[in-house]
Amino acid sequence: MKTFVTGGAGFIASNLADALLKQGNEVIVYDNLSTGQEMFIEHNLANSKYTFIKGDVLDKELLHKKMQGCDTVFHFQANADVRGGMENTQIDLNQNIIGTHNVLEGMRIHGIKRIAFASSATVYGEPEEIPTPENISPVQTSIYGASKYSAEAIIQAYCEYFDIKSWIFRFVSFMGPRYSHGVIFDFMKKLNQNPSTLHILGDGSQRKSYLHVEDGINAILMAMEKAKEKTNIFNLGNREWINVTDLADILCETLSLKDVKYTFAGGVRGWKGDTPFVHLDIQKISSLGWKPKYSVEETIKMTIEYLKENQNLLEAR
Ligand SMILES: NC(=O)c1ccc[n+]([C@@H]2O[C@H](COP(=O)([O-])OP(=O)(O)OC[C@H]3O[C@@H](n4cnc5c(N)ncnc54)[C@H](O)[C@@H]3O)[C@@H](O)[C@H]2O)c1
Repeated sequence: MKTFVTGGAGFIASNLADALLKQGNEVIVYDNLSTGQEMFIEHNLANSKYTFIKGDVLDKELLHKKMQGCDTVFHFQANADVRGGMENTQIDLNQNIIGTHNVLEGMRIHGIKRIAFASSATVYGEPEEIPTPENISPVQTSIYGASKYSAEAIIQAYCEYFDIKSWIFRFVSFMGPRYSHGVIFDFMKKLNQNPSTLHILGDGSQRKSYLHVEDGINAILMAMEKAKEKTNIFNLGNREWINVTDLADILCETLSLKDVKYTFAGGVRGWKGDTPFVHLDIQKISSLGWKPKYSVEETIKMTIEYLKENQNLLEAR
């Protein structure tokens, strides 16, 4: 494959780019480095099968020029800050909906027929059905989730019009190497500043599932090989979940911090638009023969170890 990876300098898609190269594919990474990191891509810069382009998906002219000749798009660029939509109500529309439309237009212009899209468990809002299957009719509770759901819908329409195949992945939170935003990241930043107190958003009872990025990427690559519908939608998650207070306990224990006092902002949600219980039904992806290698607890511990060894990341964002 000659692949085009948007957001390929970010946490998840830089890992994906490595996996695609390992399989022998050509990889063009297109990223504006707004949250992506040079340290996630520099090991590939000398590889003749790898090209990095510093560019913005909102720069249609450059984007479309660089997409020419590719056969598969991995569209992972986004504003991945789920919380940001309250303060800036425009950002998800521009970055996640218009950005996706620009990528799809590039595909139409150049006749590119395959797209994998990084969607999110947030498209389910606060679902009544837990574990949540792919086929519920969700009510949106955040602009981020709504923008991902809209992007999915536009992708589906392009599949109908232009004979494109899509694989849409609704992820729980990913963790693992290059993890550079999310709950552990926030907690470790806070504990670096003050190791005796940890302020937790919500009441600490929010239950979430986490998936190791390696497991997620294996699922994505397997699904693209095996699932043959015009639009293929898959949940990607783990078998278990954990509540935020228990996660904080694992963090403090792994960092050897004793007697950390937790304070709670209160309420069942961490913020408006947060989902108090995220646990996805993974039967559909499992039926292809995939299963997660790492449990939620292992994933959390490995992520803490990674950040301990890469403290500079905590300062970078
Ligand atoms: N991290 C998670 O747990 C999670 C969960 C569900 C869905 N997702 C989705 O997965 C994808 C990757 O997330 P991530 O955690 O790796 O986030 P990330 O912020 O690390 O990666 C996003 C990348 O996109 C780039 N980017 C952002 N805006 C851009 C623009 N306008 N033009 C070009 N490049 C731009 C950034 O520089 C960054 O490298 C996103 O679409 C995100 O919404 C992530």
